[in-house]
Amino acid sequence: MKKTEKNWEKRLSGQSDDLAVDFVESLSYDRRLYKYDIVGSIAHARMLATQKLITKEEFERIQSGLIEISDQIAAGKFVFDNTQEDIHMAIESALIQKIGDAGKKLHTGRSRNDQVATDIRLWMRDEIELLQTRITLLQKAFVKQAEKYAEAIMPAYTHLQRAQPVSIAAYLLSFVEQSARDFSRLADCCKRLNISPLGSGAVAGSTLPLDRAQTAQNLGFAEVSRNSIDAVADRDFCAEFIFCGALVMAHLSKLAEDWIIYMSGEFSFIRIDDAYCTSSSMMPQKRNPDMLELMRGKTGSVYGALVAMLTILKAQPSTYNRDLQEDKLHVFTAADVADQCLQMAEAIVSHTAFNTDKIAASLDKGFLDATAMAEYLVKKGIPFRQAHGIVGSLVAQCEKEGKEKLADLTLEQFFAACDKIDKDVYETLNPKGVCATYKTDGSGGIESAKSQIAYWQERLKTQ
Ligand code: ARG
Repeated sequence: MKKTEKNWEKRLSGQSDDLAVDFVESLSYDRRLYKYDIVGSIAHARMLATQKLITKEEFERIQSGLIEISDQIAAGKFVFDNTQEDIHMAIESALIQKIGDAGKKLHTGRSRNDQVATDIRLWMRDEIELLQTRITLLQKAFVKQAEKYAEAIMPAYTHLQRAQPVSIAAYLLSFVEQSARDFSRLADCCKRLNISPLGSGAVAGSTLPLDRAQTAQNLGFAEVSRNSIDAVADRDFCAEFIFCGALVMAHLSKLAEDWIIYMSGEFSFIRIDDAYCTSSSMMPQKRNPDMLELMRGKTGSVYGALVAMLTILKAQPSTYNRDLQEDKLHVFTAADVADQCLQMAEAIVSHTAFNTDKIAASLDKGFLDATAMAEYLVKKGIPFRQAHGIVGSLVAQCEKEGKEKLADLTLEQFFAACDKIDKDVYETLNPKGVCATYKTDGSGGIESAKSQIAYWQERLKTQ
């Protein structure tokens, strides 16, 4: 980057070292805030005019100059002056070049400290809305798939060991629940960040009669910050936002992990459309779930961003420090990775089929009905702990005799284990039957899955 004259040239003697100029810049990445910087500047200038700190004509020149710059940037026609440190200075200096002296009044009563804090909040509000839309689309994709599989049964796993039978729809809807929490967590984050720091200046506010309520209202903020010393330094919302992204990724990585396993030859539970698979440069037979693996892998970037953000905040002295400039790198990473992965997840969920026949054929393996049998005994008056023991011994007996399922035992064998067992026990002993008899609200059973589908169909209509 070439050497440049800065607006603090009157204070600092000599030229900055090239290395320092490159080191301090953020224009290479904060230019994506340009729209918000311009919107914030227009609101600020409008207020300066209302407060008679600039004339109406000066405001109008500032406004049209800024809009022109915004249009040029949007059209890719703006030549960024790479000698400027950041987007705020790049826009301000372009404005001064464009409209002359009026442009020099824009920064009245303002610092880049309250300016950048305002910009990130404005950007984040929009980003949250975008992520919420992506979450809704993903939820809809899950619900649509769930509609197809309400009656189909799969094993639920705990510790990745076959546990109990559930409706495939109930399994799919478990992800809709996680996404719903992601959605409302973002809404919560938005509520807390929707406060205007503008007018806090560098740290102590201003001796000029700025109308902070006006700029806040113009920019759609719910209130103004109460304390300028806090307001220029507060990046709690950045950490919260990245945390929201980190949990989105935690959930997507769980989906990825499940489906990578389900897609293996050993499981063959699902078939993901070829459009979302890759092959191998060496092994001609391969269909690899690379998109899911990348989703799992990219989770690391967002977790990393969270740790980086928290570490930036750790033990900083009060008020603004340049450390804070780094916040954007991590906030952008979290937003971009979550956005990209939510889109990919939606596409994959929409283009995956469950091999229901294959799954059904193996339901008899793994004693999925053992818990239901213990509950059968409870219904016959046996204390649960004792019932648990009886069924545990019966499973061990099956394994010893090479029997795959409890239903392969004879009534005599059952009777020998517990004289409360009747021939009606065989009605309990099949996974599909078990799935139809779960009684609890929110269970993994067929009826519960159907009512959950109805609930989400309705709720997602207005989300
Ligand atoms: N580029 C800076 C940032 O992102 C803007 C604020 C600079 N403020 C300052 N006093 N040097 O944080």
